[in-house]
Amino acid sequence: MSAGVHTVAVIGAGKIGELMLSGLLRSGWPVDRLLATARRPARAEELTARYGVRVVDNLTAVDEAAVLAVSVKPQDAAALLDEIGPKVPADKLVISLCAGLPTSFFNRRLPEGTPVVRVMTNTPALVDEAMTAISAGAHATGAHLALAEEMFKPLGQTIRVPESQQDAVTALSGSGPAYFYLLVEAMIDAGILLGLPRQVAHELIVQTAIGSAVMLRDSGEHPVKLREAVTSPAGTTISAIRELEKHGVRAALLAALEAARDRARELAAQAD
Ligand SMILES: NC(=O)c1ccc[n+]([C@@H]2O[C@H](COP(=O)([O-])OP(=O)(O)OC[C@H]3O[C@@H](n4cnc5c(N)ncnc54)[C@H](OP(=O)(O)O)[C@@H]3O)[C@@H](O)[C@H]2O)c1
Repeated sequence: MSAGVHTVAVIGAGKIGELMLSGLLRSGWPVDRLLATARRPARAEELTARYGVRVVDNLTAVDEAAVLAVSVKPQDAAALLDEIGPKVPADKLVISLCAGLPTSFFNRRLPEGTPVVRVMTNTPALVDEAMTAISAGAHATGAHLALAEEMFKPLGQTIRVPESQQDAVTALSGSGPAYFYLLVEAMIDAGILLGLPRQVAHELIVQTAIGSAVMLRDSGEHPVKLREAVTSPAGTTISAIRELEKHGVRAALLAALEAARDRARELAAQAD
């Protein structure tokens, strides 16, 4: 299997499915090699109008596509697989974007030997800065992983991880953008508290976030080193850091990500 040659069907093209469709199109994947499915007719019309992609029913997608990218909510996955599972020939590649669901969930509902690849991406895919983690299920080969990688590379960075790490990945990078947005929102509020106009606070913090992110990526330095470079003795930064530590920000992050990991497990248990 190689990229661009096979037809990919995005089954349940909601927010994440749409990110995948638009990313594939931006990377030059031919539109006549893409299919999408949706539950509501209005959503189907929207996708066709926006991308020119053919929206079909789930069984037509199974029939026509070589790669089935399942991007429904975890709680909708069992019903979807009740519908399509028995009809999926075992030579199709199933790529799951569903948070929390193990590949075994799919393999139990698909013909014996169907390759399943589990993927966790995130919303910065919209600006080609996604972090996508890819894991092989029991019957997926290196070629299947390579194809999944080719499909997600245009959306940003990809990394291969053992499937046992995927719930942690979900907590870190899947939900990750939300934590940064919350932090930025809180820092803008702090700017307002200090008397800055909202727009000024917004500009200051957004560019600071971008600059810090680029330095983290491009310098290769450990975040502690980068932070120390801004933290002079008896200076302003250390006064702020004392407050962050006093209010348990580090402990809150540890607990928050553990909660996200646990929720991914719970969702998987409920979906089963
Ligand atoms: N959002 C994120 O940041 C994020 C990040 C990483 C992973 N994920 C994972 O990506 C998956 C999708 O999340 P999302 O935020 O994109 O959800 P979403 O916007 O609700 O998209 C799911 C889509 O699937 C459609 N659908 C449900 N059952 C269907 C069926 N039987 N046949 C055809 N279409 C069906 C829904 O249609 P209706 O709109 O008509 O209900 C909806 O459009 C989830 O499993 C989530 O865990 C999400």
